[in-house]
Amino acid sequence: MTIDMTTAPDLLDVRGLSVEFPARGGGWVGAISDVSLRVRQGESVGLVGESGSGKTVTSLAVMGLTPLTGGRIAAGSIAFDGRELTSLPQREWRALRGGGIGMIFQQPTRSLNPAFTVGDQIAESVRRHLGLSRRAARARAIEMLKLVEIPRAESRMDDYPHALSGGMCQRVMIAMVMATNPRLLVADEPTTALDVTVQERILALLRDLQEQTGVALLFVSHDLAVVADLCERVVVMYAGEIIEDGTAGDVFYQPQHPYSAGLLASIPNPRRGIGNRLASIPGQVPSAGTWPPGCRFQARCGFAVPGVCDAAHPPLLPSPAGSLSRCVRAAEIALEGVAAG
Ligand SMILES: Nc1ncnc2c1ncn2[C@@H]1O[C@H](COP(=O)(O)OP(=O)(O)OP(=O)(O)O)[C@@H](O)[C@H]1O
Ligand SMILES: [Mg+2]
Repeated sequence: MTIDMTTAPDLLDVRGLSVEFPARGGGWVGAISDVSLRVRQGESVGLVGESGSGKTVTSLAVMGLTPLTGGRIAAGSIAFDGRELTSLPQREWRALRGGGIGMIFQQPTRSLNPAFTVGDQIAESVRRHLGLSRRAARARAIEMLKLVEIPRAESRMDDYPHALSGGMCQRVMIAMVMATNPRLLVADEPTTALDVTVQERILALLRDLQEQTGVALLFVSHDLAVVADLCERVVVMYAGEIIEDGTAGDVFYQPQHPYSAGLLASIPNPRRGIGNRLASIPGQVPSAGTWPPGCRFQARCGFAVPGVCDAAHPPLLPSPAGSLSRCVRAAEIALEGVAAG
């Protein structure tokens, strides 16, 4: 299925989203702030950043799960297919999660119920969401196991999750979610817990599913190389906010924020031998509630200028290369060729 991304309408439109959690000493502390991102019909968008940058908080908000984590949406809107979701009652969220939006998580083995066969779990999900008869649901479950390329699907139906490898469990999870015909699949680090070769096969499967079904993908990962390879657009998060947003090609080959450039530099370079990391960004992501005034990346940034980068919080603006960047020095840095590094 080929969709022209320049004209495809927005399926997901998140604007100015801020999520807070209860602070230890009382009150609330912001975990993500002013997050805006769009996913068009059939598009694949990658959300990338180090641990603690706010990727999961963002994806759980899109799934309407923020209240279940103890948080609250403090500002912003989430529109799915033109419908505002932040004001939706939980009951309607549940319907949406079973139909329009599907989610897969990092730990496939923990997401499946160990007490039921994989066939029963998929069939139950199909029955609940699509209202099919028992027989039709079983047929649909087998069809879905075939769709996610599980060999001998009929006999696999009667297996319990413990009999399956991590990669197979993730395929079952994907089958369960895809059985409800979602239009958007939110995948939060779906391959991080898997071996590299298994990871590659799951990524290929996601790509195939997109081709076959036209499902849009919001793919969350700390791995910029994986995201740039799988997704058309890349959104980079740091300390609870978006610091760069552009096409995969632009962000990968011409990053317009020193943090994105740092993430790229820490990708193993096969020419230097696998696992040999060129450089990694020193320091850590400041945790929620400890963001400095000015740029949140300044303490770790080799390009930070005193009196500039610590003075005012930089806005996310179009950079000369086309991406949106939250760096006031984006133009100078591009000239210095930081990306070529
Ligand atoms: N339930 C919660 N209560 C309080 N703070 C939370 C909660 N969930 C997340 N946070 C805070 O929000 C920030 C962002 O966390 P989040 O889990 O979204 O990061 P992440 O980018 O998904 O990281 P990782 O790569 O480790 O999964 C962190 O500072 C975290 O401590
Ligand atoms: Mg996470």
